[in-house]
Amino acid sequence: MKEKRDGQQAAGLTANGGLSMNILVIESSPHKKGSSNLLAENFIQGAEEAGHKVTVFDAARANIHPCLGCDSCGMSGPCCQKDDMAGLREQIMQTDMLVFVTPLYYFGMSAQLKTVIDRFYSFNGALTGKNLKAALIVAAWDNRDWTMKDIKHITEELA
Ligand SMILES: Cc1cc2nc3c(=O)[nH]c(=O)nc-3n(C[C@H](O)[C@H](O)[C@H](O)COP(=O)(O)O)c2cc1C
Repeated sequence: MKEKRDGQQAAGLTANGGLSMNILVIESSPHKKGSSNLLAENFIQGAEEAGHKVTVFDAARANIHPCLGCDSCGMSGPCCQKDDMAGLREQIMQTDMLVFVTPLYYFGMSAQLKTVIDRFYSFNGALTGKNLKAALIVAAWDNRDWTMKDIKHITEELA
């Protein structure tokens, strides 16, 4: 295991001598073979070629329910809902970088991705403390210069 930087979990080196990362890609389009997942595929290919280890989680096909806002977790305990989020939480805590992949829906992310992000609430502190790297991949229909303004702003605030 190489020396860890910034709490990284990664072991080994990339093609250019950097630290190899564990990267978790969270896809969220109902179109399995759609545009956002195509963009993600290209990202994954590049990341793997560079020597990173990539895992994909498909939020659009997972069993993840919206946060109930019950606060029984106190932002740091187990969630009272028993679904696929527990497994995703484990994966997130083992990763160095999160990549959010979404189609643009009314200037924001898909409901599938928003549902996952809302469920971060039950481990918000642990997640913030990890200082994860993050990236966003979005597919949209139009190409006006402000198309991505709102989703970019939200994601920058989250990161
Ligand atoms: C509910 C809904 C809302 C959408 N809102 C926008 C939008 O605000 N701006 C835009 O450019 N495209 C919008 N689109 C188009 C999608 O973002 C676009 O088709 C995208 O490429 C779909 O990605 P996917 O193939 O990964 O699902 C919307 C599509 C749907 C179904």
